[in-house]
Amino acid sequence: MTPYRISIVGTGYVGLCTAVGFASKGYNVLTSTHDPKKASLINKGTPPFHEPHLEEMLQKAVKNGYLRCMLDHEEAILNTDITFIAVGTPSKPNGSIDLRYIEGSACEIGGALKKKETSHLVVVKSTVVPGTTKNVVKPAIEKHSGKRCSIDFGLCMNPEFLREGSALQDTLHPDRIIIGEYDKKSGDVLEALYREFYEGDMPPLIRTNLPTAEFIKYANNAFLAMKVSFINSVANLCQKTPEADVKAVAQAIGLDKRIGSLFLNAGLGWGGSCWPKDLNALLSYSKDLDIDLPLVDATLKVNHNQPHIALSLARSLIGELKGKRIAVLGLSFKPNTDDVREAVSIKIINKLLNEGAEVVTHDPQAIDNAKAVLGNRVQYERNVRNCLKDADCCIIVTEWDEYRALRPQDFRSYMKNPAIVDGRRIYDPKAFKSVKFAAVGLGTTDS
Ligand code: UGA
Repeated sequence: MTPYRISIVGTGYVGLCTAVGFASKGYNVLTSTHDPKKASLINKGTPPFHEPHLEEMLQKAVKNGYLRCMLDHEEAILNTDITFIAVGTPSKPNGSIDLRYIEGSACEIGGALKKKETSHLVVVKSTVVPGTTKNVVKPAIEKHSGKRCSIDFGLCMNPEFLREGSALQDTLHPDRIIIGEYDKKSGDVLEALYREFYEGDMPPLIRTNLPTAEFIKYANNAFLAMKVSFINSVANLCQKTPEADVKAVAQAIGLDKRIGSLFLNAGLGWGGSCWPKDLNALLSYSKDLDIDLPLVDATLKVNHNQPHIALSLARSLIGELKGKRIAVLGLSFKPNTDDVREAVSIKIINKLLNEGAEVVTHDPQAIDNAKAVLGNRVQYERNVRNCLKDADCCIIVTEWDEYRALRPQDFRSYMKNPAIVDGRRIYDPKAFKSVKFAAVGLGTTDS
């Protein structure tokens, strides 16, 4: 059987990592974007963002001729059998989903399909609110192609669960595949593609209808965010309870199989390009239906307040922050990415600056992206030692491995008067008794 030829509209995390994943198994993949700079980078084998292993895999795919990035969606679609839509779905100012890129790509796909004589399958991979694939994507393709869904082309919704920082691992070894199908034939084609792709190692597969597949993605992200906000609330209580420690609480409740141990790391809050926009889109969708979602509301509210904890812990160690030099370690919204979208670091830094502190920052990957947001209001150091030099307090905001490796003596020798706020629980408090130390979710006898 000839492998399916694949086109992917959109070259963000989902689009590019999916493309590289298919290309790594010998599929011919054409990605497309309207951004000439991005296309040129990709065609040189240079990813436009940092993601572990992406560069080596992209270079290999481009060199072997399995992956090309085009500026013309039409040419990509005409030369392939299946098109994935992986464009962004940002938030509008009121929090509702902005579908302009989804609609735009559906119109362009329709325009291309008008010229295509063989059958084609369109698959929505972007996160879209329930009803979008059927009520927005399908009519746009039909209008611009003059063809009918299910007769002339197929349509599926196939949500993606990859995480930044482990995107390729997640693409190649997902927990499950969800196929939402407009009709059985469309679902059969997509299932055949995935069975071919995963060969003997097919993940569990769930086939369902379009709106259910769309819902699955939102329910998944909302549940995970709720889990993190829950443990952050417990952390805040532990912190006010002498001798209590959220780390032990999380470990113990995580061993209950009904709860599970993952996504129970307490911290200064969650960020990124997905959860904040998806939870707000879900809330807005529920408002339109006149349904209350108090758990999602509370999940966002807890997260809104969580970055304040960094400042109150810092104050508990060094008093007033005005005029103090604060070293912030970690700018990306999580480790192993250079993404600072909705990063907690930005919120904490803005609060520190508002209080009149002087802020010096470090991050192994995200300095350039952070500079675009924070400008010259803070100092950037590419070496941790320089960042800590003469600082009055250090706040661990992102749990990069480089910071895990620091020992109390490192802080003692680099800082003026070592005071450490462990915002991600990466250090053993017992080992840090020789310095001023406070941590999220750690109750002390004097707190
Ligand atoms: C998330 C989901 O995990 C993916 O399944 C999904 O595909 C993706 O959104 C998406 O919708 O595209 P991602 O945003 O890359 O992936 O990052 P996560 O690993 O989920 O982390 C989200 C935030 O929660 C980060 O700020 C992280 O630091 C924080 N977090 C996570 C915690 O504070 N504690 C934890 O235990 C886990």
